Amino acid sequence: MKRVTLIKGDGIGPEISNAVIKIIEASGAQIDWDVQTAGADVIEKEGVPLPDRVLESVKNNGVALKSPVTTPIGKGFRSVNVQLRKDLDLYANLRPCYNLPSVKTRYENVDIVVVRENTEDLYAGIERQVDADTAESIKIITRKASLRIAEFAFDYAIKNNRKEVAVVTKANICKLSDGLFLECAKEVAKKYPSIAFREVLVDNCCMQLVQNPNQFDILLLPNLYGDIVSDLCAGLIGGLGIAQGANIGENYAVFEPVHGSAPDIAGQDKANPTAMLMSAIEMLNYIEERKAAEKIRKALFATLEAGIKTADLGGSATCSEFADAIIDRI
Ligand code: NAI
Repeated sequence: MKRVTLIKGDGIGPEISNAVIKIIEASGAQIDWDVQTAGADVIEKEGVPLPDRVLESVKNNGVALKSPVTTPIGKGFRSVNVQLRKDLDLYANLRPCYNLPSVKTRYENVDIVVVRENTEDLYAGIERQVDADTAESIKIITRKASLRIAEFAFDYAIKNNRKEVAVVTKANICKLSDGLFLECAKEVAKKYPSIAFREVLVDNCCMQLVQNPNQFDILLLPNLYGDIVSDLCAGLIGGLGIAQGANIGENYAVFEPVHGSAPDIAGQDKANPTAMLMSAIEMLNYIEERKAAEKIRKALFATLEAGIKTADLGGSATCSEFADAIIDRI
């Protein structure tokens, strides 16, 4: 039995986690969940939103499945999600983005993998109030982090039979910071002659993605552009309800959907658990529970093909009905 940390999060987090745990149980995967809490509710009892026990749990188990945790906007505590990625040095944020069966979208055959640097850039959160009318934010890009994320992207390309890596920056304006990220990507690209390489500016990339997404294979981006472009890519395949993700480091991996805690629909049994489930499928593959992962993937696809969908995809199933339909098919 493999012990896996489970962070249930808040907002829609508990609903989608409960659905996913039930599905995983039905698949026969042998998992002993080490349930951990984090976020606003924890501050009251423990004084911090991300207590050490959560980090220790992931370090001990090596792997976690995580639901979204709310971050206050414009004030309050620092993002638990960002802190977790940083403290565990989960430097690669991997977000495969492809069409699912029976989910109607503007484009067919979208198959893009977003590789986002996960530890620095404006996400370092180094900000100061210069005076009452001026705020300053520092963008950190280092050679070490840029080289290793580029290595990750090319290594992923080789291992997964992909053809091209496009590095996405704004190096025409941020000549030093994005310039360094680009320089590192170019350097790593030279070591992988079998993988095509190109440079795209982030503004043009967004336009190209909206007009002709099929031209892209792997996108390699610094943290902030990666965050924004991931949501754009999620939109191409049917929305945040189905967009999976993983945060990967040398020693640990935390699997979590791209989306946030969706406070607008929390507690209503409306959320789509697919993004969390697809992240869980990748977690199962990671811990070598491949049979269970495949069983769940097939049952998920069969459920969508049967026209059973949650509201975000134009259906009428609740989160729990959708989960039950998947369990029936397992
Ligand atoms: P969001 O991703 O929570 O929601 C954006 C829109 O997508 C909303 O209309 C929501 O209802 C919809 N949506 C998201 N997930 C869905 C699902 N599974 N099924 C159906 N509809 C879904 O983004 P928002 O509103 O910008 O952020 C809310 C909170 O989540 C913020 O506090 C933010 O900081 C946090 N957040 C946390 C993340 C994490 O834990 N990794 C990632 C992104 C945001």
